[in-house]
Amino acid sequence: MFRGRKPELTYADVTPKELYFNRRKFLQAMGIAGAAALAGKNLIDLASPPRGVYAGAKFTNLTKSPFSTTEKQNSFEEVSHYNNFYEFGVDKDQPAKNAQKFRTSPWAVSVEGEVKTKRKFTMEEILKLAPLEERIYRHRCVEGWSIVVPWIGFSFSVLAKLVEPTPKAQFVAFESYWDLGQMPKARPELAGIQFPYVEGLRMDEAMHPLTLLCVGMYDDVLPNQDGAPVRMVIPWKYGFKSIKSLVKIRFVPKEPPTTWNLANAHEYGFYSNVNPNVDHPRWSQARERRLGEIFKRATLMFNGYEDQVSSLYTGMDLKKYY
Ligand code: MTE
Repeated sequence: MFRGRKPELTYADVTPKELYFNRRKFLQAMGIAGAAALAGKNLIDLASPPRGVYAGAKFTNLTKSPFSTTEKQNSFEEVSHYNNFYEFGVDKDQPAKNAQKFRTSPWAVSVEGEVKTKRKFTMEEILKLAPLEERIYRHRCVEGWSIVVPWIGFSFSVLAKLVEPTPKAQFVAFESYWDLGQMPKARPELAGIQFPYVEGLRMDEAMHPLTLLCVGMYDDVLPNQDGAPVRMVIPWKYGFKSIKSLVKIRFVPKEPPTTWNLANAHEYGFYSNVNPNVDHPRWSQARERRLGEIFKRATLMFNGYEDQVSSLYTGMDLKKYY
């Protein structure tokens, strides 16, 4: 879609099970492990990049967040094999394949700009900043599909408060890791966007408790293709605001540039709030297809987080600030 494709999903897009069934048969035939051991998540472990780099083991003692939806979660397989991560290819199945060897350790995020205390946080430090919560969020892509994911992390505001933003800090600019050595597909001529991938939020949006600094999903560290080792998740905005593999955060006085706005300002604005009443210039945003389901459902205002976030936009014309 981003590159001019029809956003509509095919039935094959939402039924990855067959793929797994075939892979299981393949592995069984190869005699790698017995049928029982290959059932379910063990199978995925075989196909996924090394896990638990930072946690050493699965996360335990996660706090359950009151912000979680009770809607049915998508499977780990769906969420980790249907991705947008253009640094590793523009097709949905490419990040899972091409990001396998992406090195996410050691890792650090530098926090700069209009703050009293500029700081570089190692990944180990980030993991200790606050109790880790499980937050089950709806995640709506601008292309018209959605997923429900049990993310792990804590409110971005925890980190922001530590560096003490000055009154000049009106926006936050985010930047992803970019290394052509590890990401040979991350070139504008191949991906149709500029790199490094950049995103931004207004200060009040960034400080909203729903805005998540995310370090994991499904009780484990993030798979590389989902933005390891640390990403943002902003559940009331289209998925492209949720920038992956973060390396830099800058507090700034002016609205920062954002990747999709740079690529096509007419189609992608700075705010990108999920809004069923404002069509994308090339398609309606009124409905969406949950991955794994056949029938579409209505898209909710602010992706269902209207009660929590609508006050951030009081008095703003959301058709103008799309
Ligand atoms: N971040 C980076 N660095 N590069 C990307 O290509 N894609 C965005 C966003 N963050 C992207 C990114 C888009 S378009 C979406 S829909 C979400 O990541 C997808 O997140 P998911 O693959 O974990 O569902």
